[in-house]
Order: sequence, then C-alpha cells, then structure tokens
Amino acid sequence: MHPERLKRQAYSVAAMRARARRTLPAAIFDFADGGAEDERTLRRNEEAFDEIALLPRPLNGAAERDLSLTLFGKRLSLPVIIGPTGLAGLFWPDGERCAARAAAAAGTAYCLSHGSVCTLEALAQCGASPRWMQVFIYRDRDFTRELTERAAKAGYDGLVLTIDNQLTGNRERDLRNGFTIPPRLGPAALAGMVIKAPWLLRMRRELRRITFGNYVRPGEAADIGSLAGRMSSLLDPSMSWKDVGELRRVWQGPLLLKGILHPAEAKTAVDHGIDGIIVSNHGGRQLDGAPAAIAALPAVVEAVGGRVPVLVDGGVRRGADVIKALALGAQACLVGRPQLWGLAIAGEAGVSHVLDIYRREIDRAMGLMGIKCLDELGPDCLAGRGV
Ligand SMILES: Cc1cc2nc3c(=O)[nH]c(=O)nc-3n(C[C@H](O)[C@H](O)[C@H](O)COP(=O)(O)O)c2cc1C
Repeated sequence: MHPERLKRQAYSVAAMRARARRTLPAAIFDFADGGAEDERTLRRNEEAFDEIALLPRPLNGAAERDLSLTLFGKRLSLPVIIGPTGLAGLFWPDGERCAARAAAAAGTAYCLSHGSVCTLEALAQCGASPRWMQVFIYRDRDFTRELTERAAKAGYDGLVLTIDNQLTGNRERDLRNGFTIPPRLGPAALAGMVIKAPWLLRMRRELRRITFGNYVRPGEAADIGSLAGRMSSLLDPSMSWKDVGELRRVWQGPLLLKGILHPAEAKTAVDHGIDGIIVSNHGGRQLDGAPAAIAALPAVVEAVGGRVPVLVDGGVRRGADVIKALALGAQACLVGRPQLWGLAIAGEAGVSHVLDIYRREIDRAMGLMGIKCLDELGPDCLAGRGV
C-alpha cells in the first residue's frame, strides 16, 4: 500500500484491523482475531481499559515528551514491544523478519514466537535488536534446552517462557472456519482465499514453504502437518517450578515468564530468579474466563514490589492504553494482533506504521496530560472504577 494511502486510511489500530479484515482470507483473519470459546476474556481485555480514566494536569506541560525507557540494560525509544505470534509468515512473506526490522527501526524490542515460520537463526541474521526468543517447557525437556541454547548462540537478548499454553485453547472461530494448523483448505476456505486476490498473489509461492521453522530437524521433512502434530504432543501441562529453575540455570540472560495473572505466582517467579514478568492471558486465546490482563496488573505489580520489571499485553489498542498500563506500574506493553494487522496490510511498512501510531498517540496523550517522561506516570494520573 502506498505510504500516503496507509497514513490516510489506516489512521488508528482499529482502522488497521478493519483494513486487514478486507485484505486477508476470512479464516486467516479469524485465526489471529479470535479468542477461546465465548471470547469473554478476549472482550474483557479491551473493555477493561474503558473502566480506567486518565487524570490530566496540563499546567505541568512540556514542549517535548520523552517516551524512552531502559529495559534489561537496553534503551528503547517507546514502551511498546512486539509480542510473540506464531505463523506471522502467513500474513506477509517473511513476516517475522519484516516485523523484527520494523521494531528495530522504531527503536524497540521484538519477541520471536516458538512457532515462527522462519528459524530463530534466520531471524537473528537480519540483525534486529533487541530480540527475544519465546519458548515452552516441552515433554522432551532436552528440546526446551536445545531451543534455549540455539537462542543463546544466535545472540538473543532475552528468553520468554510462555506458561499459559501447555494445552491449546479451544478457538471456536477456527472450528467454524475449518482452519487448522496446518491449514487444510476446504472449498469454503479456498473460495475465501480466491476472493482475496492480492494476498493470494503475494503468498502463492510462500504457502508451500509455510512451516514451523524452529522444529525442523536437519535431514527431516519440513512438512507442517507432521511438525504441528509433534509440536502439540511436545507440550507438557505438568510443568512445574522445578522446570523454571532448570531453565534459569541454562539461560544466563534476562529470563521472562509470560502468562502470569496470579500475584502469588508472580512473587514465586521472582523468588526463582526470573528477571521479568509479562502479565498476560494470551490475548484471550487460552483460558476463557480469565481476567483482563490490565485488571490483573496492579496486584502483580504489588506482589513483585519493584524487584523486576512487569510488562503487560492484551487489548492494548491506543496510546492511552499504554499510558494506563504504565500508570498502573507496568514498564512497557506488548502488542500481538496489531503487528499482524500491520503485516497483512503492508509488511514491514505496515508494522512500522502501527508502531508509529502508538508513538504518536502516546506522545499526544502525555502532552495533554502534562507528563514529560514515562517515570512521571503513576496511580495519581488515573481515575475511574478500574483503579
Ligand atoms: C495469531 C497469534 C499467535 C500467537 N502466538 C503466540 C505464541 O506463539 N507464543 C506466545 O507466547 N504467545 C502467542 N500469542 C499471544 C501474544 O503473544 C499476546 O499475548 C497476545 O496476542 C496479546 O494480546 P493482543 O493481541 O490483544 O495484543 C499469539 C497471539 C496471536 C493473536
């Protein structure tokens, strides 16, 4: 999409979602957009931000605002990080590397999903930094160790252990659409793709290559079907703190736990030497009925007591949402779906555009609130039922 058209038509994250819906085959749009079961948690994520109001003090204003922060020793130019999303390469050719380059250009971090199409080594080769790698605890603990060691060798700056995906959530939009991993295309899905000609044209060569890159073993077929089977059989719902302790021993750099909602679990994580917490319900894709991430944040922040950074994701769609999260004690937010919408519309330029929307909205909201830098954000900047 031409940059001017992008600016004019995709003026907000919601507008980007609407454009992505028009661009993508329905089954692929829903794969990203949907949540588990009745999508209560998915809805709550966004709605919970409505309950929180911002309390401005304009006479404390500044001509220029500073949106930067330091996280794990790296300077980031804005408090919005690209979160891990599997199969980003289904939205745009080489989607993961496009998004990582856009994050680096915007001065922020990119987290690669375990389920990326490109390998973690290929992502590292594009030089985007800071880059984090997301892993699971697998039944085959050696495989967790193997991925971790590969990430260390490839120079990743952080490791993210996702703890809320040990069973796959029940995503009913995918059932309705017949969308599976691997994508098995029935007549309806196929018809849905044909009417999205630009996406199909762009992806026609890629589709054959779509796989879970990190799971392909040397000499083995890269067939996504057998890999998807192996991947879900590898997940282990019986993981425990012992596994977290083991990972802590293997990975020397910053280690984050993603998927924490319970304050007691956050406290135990810190006691196990974890360097960062990501308060998350997996964008409402896993346990339907879980609280909104932003609603769970304050108790986690209190339990952690400033010992390690707390990040949050889920339903962050406006710069003002980022401000609310930071005022409640988060250091930064991650975004999942918005980067996929950016990719779907314009690849790397689309993700750059999404990050630019957040940057402009955060800056404007800070200006209107009389906030000069992120450190000034605290509970006294908020009002409303959610506080
Ligand atoms: C299509 C898709 C794939 C995802 N894949 C992963 C994944 O592989 N690992 C992970 O930890 N989280 C994954 N997530 C969850 C995101 O990292 C993030 O927690 C969530 O999307 C945040 O909510 P948001 O989409 O409202 O920003 C995925 C989310 C989506 C939408």
